[in-house]
Formats: sequence, structure tokens, C-alpha cells
Amino acid sequence: MSLDPLVSDGWGRLLLDRTVEKHGLHRGQMNPLDRLAYVGRHGMGALRYEPELDLGNTDDAPLALDKLARESAAVLAGENVEVFEELLRLNGSSSGARPKIVAQVSTDRKAIIHGRQDLQRGFTHWMIKFPSSQGARDVGAIEYAYSLMAKDAGVEMPETHLFRTKRNKYFGTKRFDRNGDARIHMHSLGGLIHADHRSPSLDYDMVLRVSLALTRNIQDAEKAYALVCFNVLAHNRDDHAKNFSFLLNARNEWIFAPAYDLVYSYGPGGEQSMLVLGEGRNPGAVQLQALGKQHGLKNAPEILAKVKRAVADRLAKRYGLIPPDGSGIYGPGETLTYACQRLLTRNTPAREFSRSMISKNPFANAVAPPNDAFKRLAAGEFRDWRLVVDGTVAHPMALSLADLKSLGLHSQITEVACEEGWSYIAEWIGTPLSVVLREAGVLPQTQYVDPEYGYSW
Ligand SMILES: Nc1ncnc2c1ncn2[C@@H]1O[C@H](COP(=O)(O)OP(=O)(O)O)[C@@H](O)[C@H]1O
Ligand SMILES: [Mg+2]
Repeated sequence: MSLDPLVSDGWGRLLLDRTVEKHGLHRGQMNPLDRLAYVGRHGMGALRYEPELDLGNTDDAPLALDKLARESAAVLAGENVEVFEELLRLNGSSSGARPKIVAQVSTDRKAIIHGRQDLQRGFTHWMIKFPSSQGARDVGAIEYAYSLMAKDAGVEMPETHLFRTKRNKYFGTKRFDRNGDARIHMHSLGGLIHADHRSPSLDYDMVLRVSLALTRNIQDAEKAYALVCFNVLAHNRDDHAKNFSFLLNARNEWIFAPAYDLVYSYGPGGEQSMLVLGEGRNPGAVQLQALGKQHGLKNAPEILAKVKRAVADRLAKRYGLIPPDGSGIYGPGETLTYACQRLLTRNTPAREFSRSMISKNPFANAVAPPNDAFKRLAAGEFRDWRLVVDGTVAHPMALSLADLKSLGLHSQITEVACEEGWSYIAEWIGTPLSVVLREAGVLPQTQYVDPEYGYSW
């Protein structure tokens, strides 16, 4: 058996490497057994390792999430050698790339204390994640919104919570490898079949095959299938071999573990990390249907439909989040993304990015050739062009380009995401629609804005 899947990777590994280097050892001098000695009794799942290296004491003082997030960011930036041991103790040998801690959380979710101690009365075991250096600052809120969407889609999820502090919001998930203080055996898909999660080598076909072979239960395969549908439709492309697990239940049966690490994300080269019947770049309903059929999942059509409609529509409706093209070409994936953005950033029309993230090669699609009307307007430097605003407004208007500019220009760096594959991030400059609508005085009975571009596509 390889020990590799048992030792920490990502964040946990980085902490351990930095800690031993601080004490004058080189990380290369540590073999997997040394690493397991650090895991000791405090690993994920049920396995414990002896002898254990003592990492020092912990107490039940409340944990300050903002401080820990700040220190984690400093470690990622290569600074702050003082805090390695403390963060290592708190990390509980969890894996995954993002900084995180294991902690005990009180029933009212208000008190958060060290995870490495016997379970305190009124507490349960949780994992709380911090932003990584490259990721968005609001990734915690996004992961939380995704966890709610996944639950609505029928994906089995652990209890999740958004821990709010003065400075930020942090995603927390109740540990499914603990029941009180009892430990539950857990095996990741990657560890089980010795698939390297760093290089995408697997297909969802394999996820379902392993699920069926290990659990011998069609319901577990259906649980896995719901997660497949969600990942594809909600654009979770970080769906690598360590982001699926199995648990050993009280009857000594392996079951498909609840879902985790669901967030809007890009995989290698922008593709899914896990292929869907060979398709990574743009998988959709066709592959998902075929996958369900191939594994004899009778409920697959309903499961897919539930993820598609129930989440995209129901959630969007519940929060008043129907995107302008919700049932159009963009489909449910875009609805989810849109719903998620609107949930988190109520006043911004779309997520904004930094200037350095502007795509190098924008717009791979062909631009329609200008028609005669456009050429005529261009010849007159658009002096004759008008934006007509009419319908249910108090002041119907026809605005020239100069009029529009006089209303004020605004710039935003946002992403155009198209399922045809030409998504890109660019800067957009112009007069905000909200300003124009305010000028026109939209009447209270108005429900829709219907833009007419003078061309079709
Ligand atoms: N609710 C949970 N209960 C038990 N283990 C979990 C839970 N959520 C995640 N894990 C484990 O912790 C690891 C890291 O969590 P994950 O959310 O994948 O973090 P990252 O975003 O850093 O990859 C996972 O690979 C999984 O083994
Ligand atoms: Mg992960």
C-alpha cells in the first residue's frame, strides 16, 4: 500500500515543510513515515499513527478567524515564520490546497475552538477554509452559496455554515468523518485507485464504476451521479480524484461520501479535471444522459432534471435571480453562476476582476460584418445615432452619443462567459444602464428591459 495518500498534501504539506525547515531540516529528509508521525491521532478519517510527534498543547480558547486567515496569507506569501506550528496544529492534517483549520464549533455556531482536543460539550467537529493567495477574497461566500445550491439540486451535502467576522466570511463544513468524537473511515477516490489528483487522468465513467464496485449499491451510484451533474452544470471544474470520497458506515459498508469542495472553478486549461465520457472542454446534457444510461441508472433523467431545473430555476426564483437569458442559450449552468453572483454581490451586475486578469486573447468568435446602416452611421461619426428609450417610462427619450456621455461613463472589468467556449475577461466602458433608466423614470409596473440591438444572432 502506498502511504502517499495518507500524508497531507497542499496546504498541510507546505506547513509541515516550512516547520521542519525552520528547525534546520530539509523537507527532502522527511520520508512518508516521518510525515505520518506528524499526523498521529489527528488525521482525517479513522486511521491513527504511532509513534506520534508531539506538536505541543492546544487549549479551548476561542479562535479568531480573521487573525488565522491573515497569518495563513502571510505563510502563503513566504513570510511570518513564527506561526507555522500553530497553523500546523490547527490544520489537523487535512489535505487540499486552500488554507484551512479543523475546529470544534458550538451548536449556535458562535464559539469556535481548537479541533485537536476531546470534543467539548455542545460542540461538533468542523473544517473551516480560508482564501488562498490566487483565489477570490469572497471564495468563502461563494462556496457557501454553492453548498446551498447543491443541497437544492439533491446532492448530498454535510451541514455547512458561513462564519461571518468583521473582515470577511469563511466557509465551514461539518466533518462527515466524525460522529461526535467517533471516527469514521474515509477513502478518497484518488487514494483508492492510486490516481494522481494533480494530473487529470480520470473520467466520470470511472467514478461511477468505482462507486458501484465498492458500495454495490445503485443508490450510492445515483448519489455520485447527482454530484457529476452538479459539477458539470455549475462549472465546478476542480473535480479531481481527491474531491470524491467513500466512508465506511456503522454496518461496515462503504458508501459514497457527502459532497465537498464545490465552487465555481476552472480545471486544467479551463476544462473539467474529470472527463465526462471523454469530453472535458464543453460537457453537457448529452454526455450526462449517456453516462446515466451506460451505468443503468434508471433515475438518471430525473436526477439530471432536478439539478438542471430545480436548482437553476427554483433557487433563482426564490431569490429573484432569473438572469435575462435564464432559459436561453446559456442554460442552467449560467443561471447558477448568475444566481450565485447575485446572492453575494447584490449591487454589482457581474463579478469584477483586477486589471491584471484581463484576457490576453479576447474574443475568438467572428465579428459580424458591418451592415449598410452601420456603415452610414460610422461615416457620420455616429452623430445621427440615437438610443431610443420608450415603453413604460415617465420620460421617453432619444439619446445621442454626446447625451449618453454627458450622463457619465463607468468602467468595469468583468467576464463574458459563453458556453460556446469563448469566455474572456475584458474592460467595458460606457454609461451604466441604471443611469439611463433613472433618467427615463421607469414606472413602477415595469418588469422587463427589452434591449434591441438592430441585429440578430
Ligand atoms: N465535511 C467534510 N468532512 C470530512 N472531510 C472533509 C470535509 N470536507 C472536506 N474534507 C476533506 O478535506 C479535504 C480538503 O477539503 P477541500 O474542501 O477539498 O479543500 P481544498 O479547497 O483546499 O481542496 C478534502 O479532500 C476531504 O478529504
Ligand atoms: Mg479539494
